[in-house]
Amino acid sequence: MFTSLQCRILTWFAPQGSMLCDGSAYIGKSKLAVLLGSDIFSTITGKVVIDFGCGDGEHTVEMAQKGAKRVIGLDIRESVLTVARQKAAQAGVTDNCVFATSTTGLADYVVSLDAFEHFSEPGEILNIINSLLKPQGEVLASFGPTWYHPLGGHSYSVFPWSHLLFTEKAFMRWRATYSSDGATCFAETSGGLNQMTIARFKKVVAASPFEFASLELVPIRKFRNFHNRFTQEFLTSYVRCRLRKRSK
Ligand SMILES: C[S@@+](CC[C@H](N)C(=O)[O-])C[C@H]1O[C@@H](n2cnc3c(N)ncnc32)[C@H](O)[C@@H]1O
Repeated sequence: MFTSLQCRILTWFAPQGSMLCDGSAYIGKSKLAVLLGSDIFSTITGKVVIDFGCGDGEHTVEMAQKGAKRVIGLDIRESVLTVARQKAAQAGVTDNCVFATSTTGLADYVVSLDAFEHFSEPGEILNIINSLLKPQGEVLASFGPTWYHPLGGHSYSVFPWSHLLFTEKAFMRWRATYSSDGATCFAETSGGLNQMTIARFKKVVAASPFEFASLELVPIRKFRNFHNRFTQEFLTSYVRCRLRKRSK
């Protein structure tokens, strides 16, 4: 009963699902430069790079075009890898840009954009990344929105913080009215969603073979004056960090 009511409210707000997190913020811009800084392309020039959680490969291809020696895009979904391979072919970079579900060989950098809030086992992903990085290699990661951000529920944020107000069961019932992928919980959403918070990410890194070389919590622009250690879980737009192998 309670679930049905919640489902009806969600359907009223968003009959076809939420479009609030649609990536339109990057139209006409390089998402890599916005999230990792404009020096990202000089950093990766001549380097072997792995793009972990590459999705449809847009940024993997961009790195291949803008100077990386070789880029390997990794993702668990074959459907997005197929699209990514087409993009690489269209861009003429198949010689130095490949896509796969796994790889061997060592990279200078692992880049990861908007993926750490999607990995079902982020700690395990850091172990895999450790095995794929040269000893002096670094992880350049940016992700968000994190779980307590107004839109931290991604497609479950039909309005700000709605993902914290309704039950997971209600969301799944609502989702089944417009999506046929059969997901029964947030984690089963296409591409995954692990409800990552900033505090949890710090713990995951602390338990991993990595340490922060830098960590930046970029505030939501409108609320930057209110962004502090008490509000950062709610008012951080995205997390940007560099991870290096922990010195033993
Ligand atoms: C939001 S998308 C980001 C895609 C791309 N990096 C971008 O910024 O446009 C997150 C991606 O992580 C991938 N992913 C989730 N779990 C993964 C895993 N265990 N290994 C590799 N990729 C994974 C998803 O399939 C999805 O394509």
